[in-house]
Amino acid sequence: MNAKVHELNAYKRLPLPVVSARGCHLVLSDGREVLDLYGGHCVNTLGAGDERLGAVIAKQWQTLSFATNLLDHPARQEFLRAFALNAPALSDADAAWEVFCSNSGAEANENAIKLALAATKRQRVIAFSGAFHGRTAAAAALTDNAALAFPHAPFEVVRLPWNQPEAVLAAVDERTGAVLLEPYQSLAGVTEPGAEFLRALRSSCDRTGAMLVFDEVQTGSGRLGQPWASQYLGVLPDIFTTAKGAAGGLPIGLTVVRAQHTKGLPGNLLGSTFGGGPVVLAAAAEVARRIAAPGFLANVRATSDALRKACLRGPVESVRGAGLLLGLVLKPEFTGAAVRNQLLAQGVLVGTSDDPRVLRLSPPLVLEPAAAKTLAYALESLEVRV
Ligand SMILES: Cc1ncc(COP(=O)(O)O)c(C=O)c1O
Repeated sequence: MNAKVHELNAYKRLPLPVVSARGCHLVLSDGREVLDLYGGHCVNTLGAGDERLGAVIAKQWQTLSFATNLLDHPARQEFLRAFALNAPALSDADAAWEVFCSNSGAEANENAIKLALAATKRQRVIAFSGAFHGRTAAAAALTDNAALAFPHAPFEVVRLPWNQPEAVLAAVDERTGAVLLEPYQSLAGVTEPGAEFLRALRSSCDRTGAMLVFDEVQTGSGRLGQPWASQYLGVLPDIFTTAKGAAGGLPIGLTVVRAQHTKGLPGNLLGSTFGGGPVVLAAAAEVARRIAAPGFLANVRATSDALRKACLRGPVESVRGAGLLLGLVLKPEFTGAAVRNQLLAQGVLVGTSDDPRVLRLSPPLVLEPAAAKTLAYALESLEVRV
């Protein structure tokens, strides 16, 4: 007799029987189409089923499906070339970024903190209220949600209020190994960093030798209308991480560190069986080339402008965020989950956030400005009904 097998009950699923997807639309089992303004949690950079990405993945699978990290291969070299097209410029011409490939955002963050603590020989990490950095031991210790954490953090964690420059200036000192933040806090409700806050972060880390680490798991890969949040915000971190959309739908985590910080570290500090496999890297190279292609980021910015205008109606009081990571702040009489459900009934999928008054938009980056009309129409119809 077969054993019974159930899925562990980790997710509260939406009533959305999706059977396929194309571009920015999900197709439901009854044939209805839903406009996907959530983008699979920022993963579907190029939309669903992108043909060129599919062809790259299939070709790489047929050419070299997998190889141990002990071997070099053309897909890795091509990925590094493509990644360099968008990488933040470093002022010193001899300076370089080093990239370590893993499989998820949590892993990318774990590796970033491990590198920072090893490089500085310190044990303290500063993180912020509202932060989400993943669910593995180090990442969960830095996430601002005790329910997700292990019984003990693997290092000392100091939590500071978000967006308060004075708190940063007072707390970062010679005991601080890393200061980790999402440049825009997505799950918290797309909360924005102020210019003073960013200046305080960079200057405190410069003054004390702590590493400034940007978690660009959501804000990277073109999401803000620039390849990286550091370019959008004009502040360069020592280390940045990314995942989600970097390979357009295949699992990836990237930890990117200024080469000067890895000198003298043991080579085997980091490692991964699957991270840096040829198929994933071929996909990530294609995503990077597309982001670098003329017009791609201009479309992100144009669609962002159109969505911003379109959503200021019905239950929405204001909009925040940048590019295609937008937070719709609802009027006090509305709650995010109820509005999300009603939009879903009208054929538009948006995300909720930890702030019950904020909905999130994080659509595929290939969404075109004209799609904003569908959101406007759905929000307007909803005003009558809620
Ligand atoms: C900002 C941020 N960091 C880290 C993570 C963790 O990524 P993963 O689920 O790939 O481990 C997430 C996931 O939602 C995230 O939004």
